[in-house]
Amino acid sequence: MNKSVRIHPSILNADHSNILSEIERVSKVSDLLHLDILDGKFAPNTSFSWEQAQYIISGSAIPVDAHLMVIDSDEQGPRYAEAGCQSVTIHVESTRNIRKAIKDIKSHGTRASLALKPSTQIEDYKEFLDEVDMFLIMTVEPGFGGQSFMSEMMQKVSRTRELIGDRPIWLQVDGGISKETIEIASAAGADTFVAGSAVYKAQDPAAMVSLLRDLAANAK
Ligand code: DX5
Ligand code: ZN
Repeated sequence: MNKSVRIHPSILNADHSNILSEIERVSKVSDLLHLDILDGKFAPNTSFSWEQAQYIISGSAIPVDAHLMVIDSDEQGPRYAEAGCQSVTIHVESTRNIRKAIKDIKSHGTRASLALKPSTQIEDYKEFLDEVDMFLIMTVEPGFGGQSFMSEMMQKVSRTRELIGDRPIWLQVDGGISKETIEIASAAGADTFVAGSAVYKAQDPAAMVSLLRDLAANAK
């Protein structure tokens, strides 16, 4: 039986001057829209302003999966949840009170997720397994689209899958996911895939999303 997977295109490197139409190009075949928020402090890059983010969240043809790479996650997490995201991911490295931030995000009916940078260990955060809806294992350093997939993160993905056990928690990977790497991540245990440049650099972004889904669903 094929495994059920989710594909979340990232618009970080899409055409920002035409962002809602960029989203529409993939909306029929994608699950959620991955919105990267970078404040220039947590990682060395900036992306969308709060006004741009609100415009995207309310105008997107598909629900939004926000990935906050900011230093004030405790405040920004609930703010993005309230703005209407379906899922909000905060980094464990930039959250002062993780348990409270998760609760505040969920109080808006939003899925709450924790992200780990490449050097952060899952063992240090397993106490949150009964509270989150998703774990995001970064497969590049946060900051930029178009970086190379870090295959050395697959051990962390497998270990997180093992810890998740029967819980209905999504396991997301983000960074360098393409038709060359998605099967490796899926075989390691990921079921939710962010893809930025692979999708938006393709001649037909929607066809690429469908191809990525097939490859991930059939990976052994
Ligand atoms: C990196 C971002 C990613 C990025 C992925 O900090 O979190 O979501 O957009 O881009 P690709 O798929 O090109 O690696
Ligand atoms: Zn991201």
